[in-house]
Amino acid sequence: MSSKSLSPTLPVQVTPPQLELSALSPAEVDAEVVALPVMPAGETGSLVLGPGAAELGETYDLLGVLEVEGATGKAGEVTSLPVTAEGSLKRILLVGVGDQQRTDFRRAGAALARATRDRESVVTTIVAADPAVALDPFVAGATLGSFDFHWRSGGPQWQPVGRIVLAEVGTERAAALARATAVALAGWRSRFLATVPAILKNPAWLAEQAEAVAKEAGLDVTVWDEKALAKDGFGGILGVGAASATPPRLIRLDYKPAKGARRAPTVVLVGKGITFDTGGLNLKPGEGMVTMKRDMTGGAVVLATMAALAAVGCPVKVVGLIAAAENAVSGSATRPGDVLRHYGGRTSEVTNTDAEGRLVMADALAYAVDQLKPAALVDVATLTGAMKVALGQQVGGYFASDDALAALLAEAAEASGEPLWRMPLADVYEERLASKVADADNAPGGPGAITAALFLRHFTGGLPWAHLDIASVGDAPADSFEWTQGPTGFGARLLLSWLGQDDPLAGVGDRR
Ligand code: BES
Ligand code: MN
Ligand code: ZN
Repeated sequence: MSSKSLSPTLPVQVTPPQLELSALSPAEVDAEVVALPVMPAGETGSLVLGPGAAELGETYDLLGVLEVEGATGKAGEVTSLPVTAEGSLKRILLVGVGDQQRTDFRRAGAALARATRDRESVVTTIVAADPAVALDPFVAGATLGSFDFHWRSGGPQWQPVGRIVLAEVGTERAAALARATAVALAGWRSRFLATVPAILKNPAWLAEQAEAVAKEAGLDVTVWDEKALAKDGFGGILGVGAASATPPRLIRLDYKPAKGARRAPTVVLVGKGITFDTGGLNLKPGEGMVTMKRDMTGGAVVLATMAALAAVGCPVKVVGLIAAAENAVSGSATRPGDVLRHYGGRTSEVTNTDAEGRLVMADALAYAVDQLKPAALVDVATLTGAMKVALGQQVGGYFASDDALAALLAEAAEASGEPLWRMPLADVYEERLASKVADADNAPGGPGAITAALFLRHFTGGLPWAHLDIASVGDAPADSFEWTQGPTGFGARLLLSWLGQDDPLAGVGDRR
């Protein structure tokens, strides 16, 4: 067999639905499905149907159907009613919107997406009643609830709905829709990248994806190959990648705002890009290894965020760094007891080759401090299993050296639907990092998420810094609203919510 026939080729993937605005009412839009919002019974004691229901209500007893089905109006509940009218309309969906908060609209959007798979088009008034609140989360839910990844010989099992028309929302919302779509697609992109199997996704492949993104988004891109990494002293990245048939890369992307770039401060984002984590010579057991293609989720988040910065009007300069390596096993692997010299000279004793993330992150953080004069540093990594034990699979953990930065990220997390909980950089555990031979031990024991954060802190130069440990939320155990079973790509929406603000550095480092 030629090597060509063995090289993996990803089949064509499904594409997210197209979203459109229309000032028309649902009855005036030609679509296969109409989806109307259902509000829970308030003081009136009866469910309330949203905009557009009056017209359809003349023909169909919508409230009667809801009553027969026992509908409550809770967010994401779908009551489906086949119709046999003339014209395109085949089905009416009545979608609960609960308390009409952001989370409710995200759920309603995702439920609509799941209920309209393989349909050509759906028109909905879910956003119409309160577009200022509903638009962003609805678009995120509808887009991500449509996500699928396949590598099947016969094509995908289903197609997302082709077109979602947001009825009774005027074109004055076009800019808001474009922005919401860019954020939702960033979530899609990072989920896609995290889902690609490591037979295809190696450090060089990730660098190619970054080059493609840079071209599309107008970013500058620099890639260090193994030779350049050695020349510049990136001993952590090289040590972790030493066993792999596909050598490591450091990827740098540069974004500048359209206006005021010269005086704008710089934010540096650093992502863990372990394209597969076997554990190295401290090999993971099978059940712990099976999801490790997604150990580059932090890198995927950084890449997807960089791609969308212009679309959200990010006012600061942003440099994205992705430390990409495959943590593999071979005769050239880094051994327990080996010492690695990081960028800038600090050394680590590798007492556990499975604590590889912090080794590559350390190099990238040290480079950022040395070369980029950041006003804030934010790193994103699927770093510790301990975070999953602490927070479960629906909340990410973060640490911050600066309270203003911590507050900005907490707010962004809440707004975007990617929840975070702040963890302590508890100095009392600092002494656990001690090594007999090097500046630090890479696997100092518990509390694992905290000692990992403390390990990284040594490379942050005392700058305002936040560390997002997303190991907890990197994998969704089941389909649930905007989450689809498997890698989540968690983090891009929250970073864009933060960096899309008027002043993402308000109060950070007490600048003012
Ligand atoms: N990639 C893992 C962390 C991880 C575990 C992510 C489970 C998602 C789910 C990381 O490289 C790792 O192996 N960490 C070790 C560190 C330990 C050896 C100090 C861990 O958490 O067990
Ligand atoms: Mn590991
Ligand atoms: Zn790892």
